[in-house]
Amino acid sequence: GTAQIGVTGLAVMGRNLARNFARNGLTVAVHNRTAAKTRALVEEFGDEGTFVPAESAEEFVAALERPRRLMIMVKAGDPTDAVIQEFAPLLEEGDVIIDGGNAHFADTRRREKELRERGIHFVGVGVSGGEEGALHGPSIMPGGSPKSYESLGPLLERIAAKAPDGARTVAHIGPDGAGHFVKMVHNGIEYADMQLIAEAYHLLRSVAGYSPAQIAETFRTWNTGRLDSYLIEITAEVLAHTDEATGKPFVDVVVDQAEQKGTGRWTVQIALDLGVPVSGIAEAVFARAVSGHAALREASRGLPGPTARPLDAAEAARFADQVEQALYASKIVSYTQGFHQIRAGSDEYGWDVDLGSVAAIWRAGCIIRAAFLDRIRAAFDARHDLPSLLSDKQFAEEIGAAQDDWRAVVATAAVQGVPTPGFSAALSYYDALRAERLPAALTQGQRDFFGAHTYRRTDREGSFHTLWGGDRSEVSGA
Ligand code: 6PG
Repeated sequence: GTAQIGVTGLAVMGRNLARNFARNGLTVAVHNRTAAKTRALVEEFGDEGTFVPAESAEEFVAALERPRRLMIMVKAGDPTDAVIQEFAPLLEEGDVIIDGGNAHFADTRRREKELRERGIHFVGVGVSGGEEGALHGPSIMPGGSPKSYESLGPLLERIAAKAPDGARTVAHIGPDGAGHFVKMVHNGIEYADMQLIAEAYHLLRSVAGYSPAQIAETFRTWNTGRLDSYLIEITAEVLAHTDEATGKPFVDVVVDQAEQKGTGRWTVQIALDLGVPVSGIAEAVFARAVSGHAALREASRGLPGPTARPLDAAEAARFADQVEQALYASKIVSYTQGFHQIRAGSDEYGWDVDLGSVAAIWRAGCIIRAAFLDRIRAAFDARHDLPSLLSDKQFAEEIGAAQDDWRAVVATAAVQGVPTPGFSAALSYYDALRAERLPAALTQGQRDFFGAHTYRRTDREGSFHTLWGGDRSEVSGA
């Protein structure tokens, strides 16, 4: 065969990745379960590069140069396993199967192990950037063996996006499921970013009394500063959009129930297993869940609470500035928590993930691309063992400078009855980390009281138990 890469599964993501490879000078074998899609791709986009259409699995495999690199772009879950079962018997030792879907990293670990035993490299690749990114340059997070990256890396580098400094947004994340794990956390952070932006919008609308068009303008201004990011940019676009049918702001005619496909939920489930506090991401997932409980919301509408009182123009402008501070500070917390989770996953599975390089490949191509990721990259590059983003001097200073306004916004939201689970959870996390003493000591006392679960002391080594039901003397707890 002559094709350097093959793509099977030609729905929009697969088709656009295949086109991206071809536009960048690679010969691309293309295959789909129903051959009509393959023919359509070649008919419509055949002049963009060199495609080798294949109707059957055998034809597809034969079209690939060896070692074969075969990318699967089908729905995550059972369809992925079915395609692997179909192709694996046709492959030879050293060939590489690449899964570019949003797979759960535990599935990727299982598949990698099974295929490794058969001499085949399996590479789970996180791909972010949606349809546009797939075509023009996504951010790419490949896992799998270092050996597989030798043959695959150069191809991925051709199609990845370019960061502002010209670097391609792809890097080998680590073995087996590391790539899909990092993509999962990317999506968790994406949920948190979106929730924080939504809270900012809600406050500007209800407390500042701004119209969607005014809020679009506010976001456009913010986008020229430290919040410069793709999500802020598209938020302004969405808010400025007017519904054609009614002439109303688009955001006012959309049903206010947010859906989800599962990657945000996975992030939180795994964080619970790892014991990593990703409260910002969790609140974002729960906020979508609350929005979706229509009957519960309907039944609760009569509950008492304040009605937000709009501010005058000068107060509103001042408040908007405070919301920017709250949004930025909360965003720092989300990334702090997300990177903590990546480090915890890396430790748990022995991946040795380089956090600076994760931040580097998120600078362009992906949904959470943002100017400040370059500073996160710099922080982790300067100190690989940085305990937390909040231990970085610059981020610590920035969040410190924002904290008064951040508190004012959370307080105002509480008084005026506007839900801000993201801002509030982020602030509580910040305050918990700063606290000299936490009430966890009391929790330990309660646990020891009702369950003899023991506690440690601040002044002596060892574990202890108090005889709560007896004379309340202390005994050694071990
Ligand atoms: C990306 C996106 C993409 C998708 C997610 C989120 O990085 O390109 O994260 O993967 O938009 O699946 O979708 P939900 O909001 O439906 O979970």
